[in-house]
Amino acid sequence: MTTTPHLALHTLREGHGLPVLLVHGFPLDHRMWDDTAAALPSGITVLAVDLPGLGESPLGGEPPSIEAAADAVVVAARAAGIERAVVVGMSMGGYVALAAAERHADFVVALGLVDTKSTADDDAARANRLRIADAVSESRTVDAVLGMPGALLGATSKVARRGLTARLEEWIRSQRPDGVAWAQRAMAARPDRTEVLARFAGPVAVVVGEEDTLTPIEAAEHLVAAAPGATLVVVPAAGHMSAVEDAPAVANAIGDLWAVARD
Ligand code: MLT
Repeated sequence: MTTTPHLALHTLREGHGLPVLLVHGFPLDHRMWDDTAAALPSGITVLAVDLPGLGESPLGGEPPSIEAAADAVVVAARAAGIERAVVVGMSMGGYVALAAAERHADFVVALGLVDTKSTADDDAARANRLRIADAVSESRTVDAVLGMPGALLGATSKVARRGLTARLEEWIRSQRPDGVAWAQRAMAARPDRTEVLARFAGPVAVVVGEEDTLTPIEAAEHLVAAAPGATLVVVPAAGHMSAVEDAPAVANAIGDLWAVARD
């Protein structure tokens, strides 16, 4: 028997009207959105979820899949009385947001896709994820992903925003190995969801750090090309963690998306 985990849903800002629901990247949790939420216009309700097995969320018994994560996010939001939201996902959170748009079109009013992509992994990337998942499971530590801040941060941040490496390391170190392994296996199994964007009826905003090497500008342009009317914001001097490296710029893009979705 499998169980849908009851995910932790954090209210980062109290407000009214259409809420913004933020979905974090890997191997992080809702804390990556703290600065973005603080920079959003007042009056907007801002929530951030912890994906299964990460942050304060239990893992539950579902086999690893982005679809299960998306279903669990929507179940958690509905349990909190939220029937519709602007869903914003960063990287892995973007994979979850796209799956939510595909599976729960009535829930996802607008999509914010931050430093993410719609394509599936190639064989080499998939094998690498499974290798990392096995290493994390066998060692029962997150050692295999502790080096990630070097790839997550842009070249400018690594020099000019030195405190961010330690901040990311602290977030990663606090994750549970079983949640990290589950997320890697879920991402390895995800399909290409480019077509979801062509069918999505609401507004779409795509945001990418100019120095993002994991999901570079080309991946963002691919998203924009697939989604009729989508906007693209390129954040200067920021990498894959643009939402942390330049939170006001990302908040500005999310605020614009919210304003369009609300009308
Ligand atoms: C993330 O930031 O969530 C990861 O880079 C996603 C991935 O590994 O594809």
